[in-house]
Amino acid sequence: MDDSLAVAPDQLVQRHARPGMSLLAVLHAIQDELGYVPPATVAPLARAMNLSRAEVHGVITYYHHFRTQAPAPVTVQLCRAEACRSMGTEALAQHIEARTGCRFDAEHEPHATVELESVYCLGQCALSPALMLNGTLHAKVTPHKFDAILAAAEKCVEVTA
Ligand code: FES
Repeated sequence: MDDSLAVAPDQLVQRHARPGMSLLAVLHAIQDELGYVPPATVAPLARAMNLSRAEVHGVITYYHHFRTQAPAPVTVQLCRAEACRSMGTEALAQHIEARTGCRFDAEHEPHATVELESVYCLGQCALSPALMLNGTLHAKVTPHKFDAILAAAEKCVEVTA
C-alpha cells in the first residue's frame, strides 16, 4: 500500500468504480477526492474496469489533467496562452519563479509548499494575465497583486498545517 494514502487503493477504487461508469469518470472521482490519482490504484482500477494495467496507465498519462503525485499545498496555474502573453504573462512568470524559488512545470519536491504549472487559456482572455491559485481564478494579475494573493494563500496553509 502507498504509505501516504489514508485508504487502501482497492478500497479507494471500490468506493468510486460503479457499474457502467467509464474509466475517465472513475479517475475524475479519485482525483476529486485526493487531488491526484495514486499509481497504486492502477492495478485495482484495471481489475475493476476489466482493462489491462497498460490501458489504465495510458489513459492517466495521456490526459494532462490527471496527476500521479499529490499537489503542493499552494498550486499556481498561470495562463501562458496568446492573450495573456500579449499582456505580460512571461514577465509575470519570471516574477513568480523568483518570488517562490520554484520553476514552472517542474516536478515539485514531496514537501514543497508551492507548485507552479503552465496552463493554456482559463477563459479570462479579456482580463489577462490570468491565473488560478488553489482553484480560485484571479484576473489582471500584476507582480504586486500576485505577491498579495500568494501571501494570503501561504497564511491559510500555515493556519491549516
Ligand atoms: S489566453 Fe489567458 S485566459 Fe485566455
